[in-house]
Amino acid sequence: MDSLLAPAIFGEIELANRVVMAPMTRSRATVDGDATDLMAAHYGVRATAGLIVTEGIAPSEVGKGYCRTPVLDGPHRLDGWRRITDAVHAGGGRIVAQAMHCGRVAHAANKALGVETVAPSAIQAAGTMYTDAEGMMPFDEPRALTAAEVRSIVDEYRRFAALSMEAGFDGVEVHATSGYLPAQFLCTGTNRRTDAYGGSLEGRIRFPVEILEAVSEEIGAGRTGLRICPGNPFNDLVDDRPEDVEETFRAFLMAIQALRLSWLHVIRRHEGRLDNLALARELHDGAVIANDSYDGPSADAAIASGKCDAVSFGRHYLATPDLVTRFGAGDQPDPFDHRTLYTPGPAGYTELSG
Ligand SMILES: Cc1cc2nc3c(=O)[nH]c(=O)nc-3n(C[C@H](O)[C@H](O)[C@H](O)COP(=O)(O)O)c2cc1C
Repeated sequence: MDSLLAPAIFGEIELANRVVMAPMTRSRATVDGDATDLMAAHYGVRATAGLIVTEGIAPSEVGKGYCRTPVLDGPHRLDGWRRITDAVHAGGGRIVAQAMHCGRVAHAANKALGVETVAPSAIQAAGTMYTDAEGMMPFDEPRALTAAEVRSIVDEYRRFAALSMEAGFDGVEVHATSGYLPAQFLCTGTNRRTDAYGGSLEGRIRFPVEILEAVSEEIGAGRTGLRICPGNPFNDLVDDRPEDVEETFRAFLMAIQALRLSWLHVIRRHEGRLDNLALARELHDGAVIANDSYDGPSADAAIASGKCDAVSFGRHYLATPDLVTRFGAGDQPDPFDHRTLYTPGPAGYTELSG
């Protein structure tokens, strides 16, 4: 495990090892989107990770999609997050905030009263999502954003980044996959706009590029990262042609090369046409964090071979807070209980049966 457990420096962030905790929505914020002490306990005991990427956090009420997920949209939200970053720093860890605007992957019952659901184009996603009030419900029909509104969402990401620094985070990761708003702009099937934010390849990449320019200008590129998974169809993400995926991501990564972002967090796809990790290495000069279905030995081997600089673990972190020690000893992580993934309260979150 020498490669996985070796320290690293990603831009401005020093990691004690290359075991990264992957972002995981757990729905333990308040109904209004405030961070809780339960979350501080959850993240605090995982501070031995070289880096923690938080669950997705909405940069505005409109950007919230799922029930009991957090929002970071003003100073009134800071206290809860400070307790979380303090808990992680007290344990010697590093933690970055994941900015996740859900766009059309949302339901009104999961949002504050009267808050709408928006998207690049007025195309409803196929599928359903859980709501506390009404159980499983179809995704909302979204309203298409005006160009001025798109620009104001870029400003919300900038505000999110500034607030993250005030809350004591070590950086910000922009979530641009899994069917959420930036991914909705990138894909030809979900972006039917004809203005500056759509129409052409240049138009489709404009919104995520502007977000990254704003965030890195606000907090420094050395503290800014990006999460991608070219070809990921999650949440009804579709492209018109299979070749759209590679064309889009080549153009996107080349457009942000000059920013020199600290890290690119890449979900590999076994079934994809494209080698996502190789594309990231080719077009990104900074650190590459690889993700998806790694265990300790395969992660160590991926880093040793130069495919990536770190590996993030999602499901292994659910029931095994000190994954670093577990990997170091050559032992397996504990199995997790999928029934408590998104339920309120400590069961399966801070209280683990294994
Ligand atoms: C319960 C759960 C919640 C997740 N929430 C997020 C999220 O908020 N943001 C994100 O980028 N990925 C999210 N993911 C995806 C994980 O970060 C990761 O990509 C996935 O679990 C695959 O990695 P693994 O094989 O190590 O578990 C979530 C995954 C799980 C299991």
